Amino acid sequence: MSPPDLSAARSSSPESGEDDFKTLEQFIIEQQDRFPHSTGAFSRLLRDIGLAAKIVNRDMRQAGLIGVAGSTGAVNVQGEVQQKMDALAHREFVRALRLGGECCLIGSEEHAEAIPLNTSTDEGQYIVLLDPLDGSSNIDVCVSVGTIFSIYRLPDGYDRTEPPLDAALQPGTQQVAAGYVVYGSSTMLVYTTGNGVNGFTLDPTIGEFLLSHPQLTTPERGRIFSINAGYYHSFEDGLCNYLDWLQEHDPETGRPAKTRYIGSFVSDFHRNLLKGGIYMYPATQGNPEGKLRLMYEANPMAFIAEQAGGRATDGQMRILKKTPDTLHQRTPLFIGSEQMVRRAEAFLAGEHSVV
Ligand code: AHG
Ligand code: MN
Ligand code: MN
Repeated sequence: MSPPDLSAARSSSPESGEDDFKTLEQFIIEQQDRFPHSTGAFSRLLRDIGLAAKIVNRDMRQAGLIGVAGSTGAVNVQGEVQQKMDALAHREFVRALRLGGECCLIGSEEHAEAIPLNTSTDEGQYIVLLDPLDGSSNIDVCVSVGTIFSIYRLPDGYDRTEPPLDAALQPGTQQVAAGYVVYGSSTMLVYTTGNGVNGFTLDPTIGEFLLSHPQLTTPERGRIFSINAGYYHSFEDGLCNYLDWLQEHDPETGRPAKTRYIGSFVSDFHRNLLKGGIYMYPATQGNPEGKLRLMYEANPMAFIAEQAGGRATDGQMRILKKTPDTLHQRTPLFIGSEQMVRRAEAFLAGEHSVV
């Protein structure tokens, strides 16, 4: 029997033919051309991030074969066991940003203090905050994980060669760009510069991210809720009421909702962004401030969610408005489809009625 002819399926892939897909670099340059005074520095910064993502992706795909699975034996600044891939991803992103020269300061989940890169005076105007590898506990079991990044400008008046470490502590509203990479059944890079959200799928055969999801928007409401229900008994009453409500049988309002929780924030967020849903990581007994980090998990995803038409709060206030005190501070997080987040907030505020 002859093998099936897949050419028709390939050429009828999303949008039009694959020849029509723009590469990430082409897209970045096209965006840059819209700004006549642009120096290209920001475009080069994004290129560096894309390059590091490809290296991490390559190593991730062979983790069990090249000795990068398992833990390093060290505990990171969060008090969490560091995986070899956490350390490797941190190293690759720092290296790409250092060599690229457009970044003067890096904040990473895997490093206690912000890292100054000692760039020259005419380079390095950007600050990059990173969760190099999100969802570490899933690496060794072949479940999708991610990288999250958040980009700020070094405020005027600061010395680029010796930026003060607290220059990294800006509210999320000051982000000039944010994005994530999901290393899943395929690898995607999704980012925003405050002008919508665009998604790129890595074509491993040519080593390029191709624009596959232009101008992404998220449904106003969805049917998925993502939360670690194992902590149910330490949630506040309002949240338990919301979770109970989601599970009631009422087909007219799309209930019961479906529960989906991967335990990789990037992957849970990405699925909910595309399909519609809410991701919640509230305060718990073990993590009274929540678990996720404001600067390199909540803020960048909040920027993307809002740009896609969604919403992100800590249950009371908009994530992007929060004033940071420390690089690794945590926050409760409710993020996703606007109507679902609003309803969660209403339940948390003790209003059980429909918004
Ligand atoms: P990280 O691997 O970067 O430390 O992040 C892990 C986070 C997040 O990805 C995930 O949603 C959450 O931790 C899962 O925590 P629980 O196991 O407490 O649900
Ligand atoms: Mn993380
Ligand atoms: Mn991480």
